Amino acid sequence: MALLESVKDKIKNLFFELGKGKVLKVQKNLTYKYKNKTGESKPLIEDLSDSGIYAISRMPATNEVLCSLFKTLISQNILDKNLKSIIDVGAGTGAGYFAIKDYFENAELTFVENNKNMIDVFKKLTEYENIIHEDILNFESEEKYNLVLSSYVLSEMTEFDRVNAVCKLFNLSNKYVLLVDAGTPSIYEQYMNIKGICKKFGFKVIAPCKNEMCPLKNDYCQFYARVERSSVHKLAKDAIQSYEDEKYFYLLFEKIENNGENVDYEDLARVIRRPIIKKNLVELKVCASGGIKNVAITKKDKEKFKMARKIKINEQMKV
Ligand SMILES: C[S@@+](CC[C@H](N)C(=O)[O-])C[C@H]1O[C@@H](n2cnc3c(N)ncnc32)[C@H](O)[C@@H]1O
Repeated sequence: MALLESVKDKIKNLFFELGKGKVLKVQKNLTYKYKNKTGESKPLIEDLSDSGIYAISRMPATNEVLCSLFKTLISQNILDKNLKSIIDVGAGTGAGYFAIKDYFENAELTFVENNKNMIDVFKKLTEYENIIHEDILNFESEEKYNLVLSSYVLSEMTEFDRVNAVCKLFNLSNKYVLLVDAGTPSIYEQYMNIKGICKKFGFKVIAPCKNEMCPLKNDYCQFYARVERSSVHKLAKDAIQSYEDEKYFYLLFEKIENNGENVDYEDLARVIRRPIIKKNLVELKVCASGGIKNVAITKKDKEKFKMARKIKINEQMKV
């Protein structure tokens, strides 16, 4: 679901408050910082102009990624839309707030963020005041949450802080941990390094695949969400195209039940190469729980064949 018109209007106001000249200057500087200074556990957002620009030029994309992910995971019966409690760590300017509100109507929500400038814009856009001003590395909570979400946060940290933050996130959850970040080879590598930590906390990875070790060699896993660009989004990015495809990566972990009675999710395979469609046959290269496989689906298997003819890279099906 796209951001509400009322939120888009508030984002537009942020743009006009700053003025086009300043927007372009700050945007350029912020892009430079995200390219060159990330991964050092230092704040990239240094004032209210930075957080305003984040809301204008990045938040619509991160929100769309979360919406698209929630939609997919709920439709595949992997995430339950009736979760009771959700915490969003590194909540930024509200990307998670709006996505969670759209998909989990019944959940009690908690937000944690360590940057005052982000919090100010978060409050302005969401009109939600109770966001907790704290660093995840110092955050203590007696409460456990059904879903612990952290999007586009861990890649801003050093490897040492990232590992400590992930331990904190697992400790906060009694059901799921969802980590989302940009879909680049280096970030994928960072997440592969932290994937193994889950076992120590009694969790297992359940999406986008169930493999403990990624079977891809000299390759990486990436998804994308299409983001419609608003007029101010285009102006801030000096862009002409009316949309952008935001590439992302994610890992969803589930707590292993003491009695071992976790729901057994349908074992879906992800298509990793463009399907080869022939008259009576579709050839797919997929990443499945047993590793990488080449499968041939023939016309004899009517339903699967129909699905395979339409499937696109990164989509999943039972093979
Ligand atoms: C790139 S923004 C992502 C914001 C939001 N989650 C989203 O998806 O749009 C990263 C956010 O994480 C916050 N952050 C970074 N390190 C943090 C930490 N140690 N504790 C809490 N928040 C942190 C930053 O201040 C920033 O707001």
